[in-house]
Amino acid sequence: MTARTSLPSWQALKQHAGVMKKQHMKDLFNENPQRFDEFSLKLPAFLFDYSKNLITTETMQGLFALARDCKLEQWREKMFTGARINTTEDRSVLHVALRDRSNTPLIVDGEDVPAKVQSALLQIKDFTERVRTGRWLGYSGKRITDVVNIGVGGSNLGPQMVTEGLKHYSDQSVRVHYVSNVDGTQIADVLRPLDPEKTLFIISSKTFTTTETMTNAQTAMKWLVASAFDENAIAKHFVAVSSNKVNACDFGIKEENIFDMWDWVGGRFSLWSAIGLPIALDLGYEKFIELLEGAFEIDQHFRNAPLEENAPVIMALLSLWNCTFLGSQSQAILPYDQPLHKLTAYLQQAEMESNGKSVNWQGEDVDYATVPSIWGEIGINGQHAFYQYLHQSNNVVPADFIGSVASVTPVQGHHDTLMANFFAQTEALMGGVNEQQVREDLKAKGRTQEYIDKVAPHKVHKGNRPTNTILMNRISPRSLGSLIALYEHKIFTQGILLQICSFDQWGVELGKGLANKIYSELSTDQLNGKHDSSTNNLIAYYKTIKSTNKR
Ligand code: F6P
Repeated sequence: MTARTSLPSWQALKQHAGVMKKQHMKDLFNENPQRFDEFSLKLPAFLFDYSKNLITTETMQGLFALARDCKLEQWREKMFTGARINTTEDRSVLHVALRDRSNTPLIVDGEDVPAKVQSALLQIKDFTERVRTGRWLGYSGKRITDVVNIGVGGSNLGPQMVTEGLKHYSDQSVRVHYVSNVDGTQIADVLRPLDPEKTLFIISSKTFTTTETMTNAQTAMKWLVASAFDENAIAKHFVAVSSNKVNACDFGIKEENIFDMWDWVGGRFSLWSAIGLPIALDLGYEKFIELLEGAFEIDQHFRNAPLEENAPVIMALLSLWNCTFLGSQSQAILPYDQPLHKLTAYLQQAEMESNGKSVNWQGEDVDYATVPSIWGEIGINGQHAFYQYLHQSNNVVPADFIGSVASVTPVQGHHDTLMANFFAQTEALMGGVNEQQVREDLKAKGRTQEYIDKVAPHKVHKGNRPTNTILMNRISPRSLGSLIALYEHKIFTQGILLQICSFDQWGVELGKGLANKIYSELSTDQLNGKHDSSTNNLIAYYKTIKSTNKR
């Protein structure tokens, strides 16, 4: 047994899970008319309804007891006060400091954190205003019309998800584009319609070593220089966001155009820093600040609300309950709000890169399932694709349904149709329909007994499928900031409950290292033959066809 599984509260939950597996949520709703009131929270940015989970008062009490046994409140305080809770990298975890709007002093390792954040914000403000008002000029004296963010992972997903989410708030002072993939098709497609004289590149890379980003940055630079015939143009068309100033300067970016990043901000939690430049350029600095304010609202809620009324804590506890105790292996994120169409991809990195691990803080193999795999799609598209699986497969997939009372772009007759589906789906997933109901329905429709006998089993929906509903008023910079912070703190809490170091990502290193070795094999005539036979033969095939294509 590990430290976690030997906790009495863990053991009690394990036993309780055995009992709950035999329960149906429909009965729990019938037995408790107060269920919604008991298992929902109203926050300024959204209503959070978690009553459609396979839980009772006893379950939640057990989960809160576990959270306390795991010293969650103490760990939470450690994060906010800059303790080095990223133990494998010996770093503080302070993305919360990036959006602290309270001017609370915070000195970490002799560094005045709020002062650093404030000066970075001023740099962002000054830069975005110059670009957006046409005071930043390209090499030929023309104003910037297009900005291309080159970055991958946390240096792409957050900003892109937010600019997509808030595009109806953009005044189109500049157009923002993203290149993340080293597949040349993407950068070629993005650059094709753009004018080098009016295009600005942001090279977003905390390390400034990520191969994909560096390759794209070189291509962008060549594209610019091919038009300008002058390498001095680079300084006017490239800025960087990085903690590696040396590499960024070597690339040709002026030191004053390098936006700092700090060790205490993890890539996947960095959209609140200068990594969010595309957001500020697209929306303007004031709306970027509103985004931070929305996140800060949830930071305060997370830090101060009792566990029993704490939305991110409850989300994490439910994830643990569904995955570790009830055995679900994946979780769907289903936004019913078109602007949130990149949210699932963003949360895949946020949760899976953070907690998709299998050793605990002590380096021991854990004897429990950690986090589920995250997947999903815009809800309506999912309904006509994979919801069949959600409703009737043998695998139970807990799902987060995220929608808004009002659309950012109201079109007559659309929103209520959308939201009718939103409400219907969680109702159906919870309640299902049993064989008797199916038979009665078919009979009422005048079907023959033979037809009923044949079809009835196929139409049964067992229900009892857990969902959370997050109902916002409307997507706005502030409410989106709150939504993202909600998930960030859920992820932090999961890490504490599971004893997982949420802030490193060693699991992406192995593949990166191998790719570098194989790259050199692809560019020489030699095959080194040191891989497994599958990889050797795949490489050999690739090289043979590649050389045939050249002829
Ligand atoms: O995929 C691994 C990773 O390190 C992510 O954690 C990070 O967000 C991404 O690569 C990009 O890294 P960088 O900003 O250093 O280019």
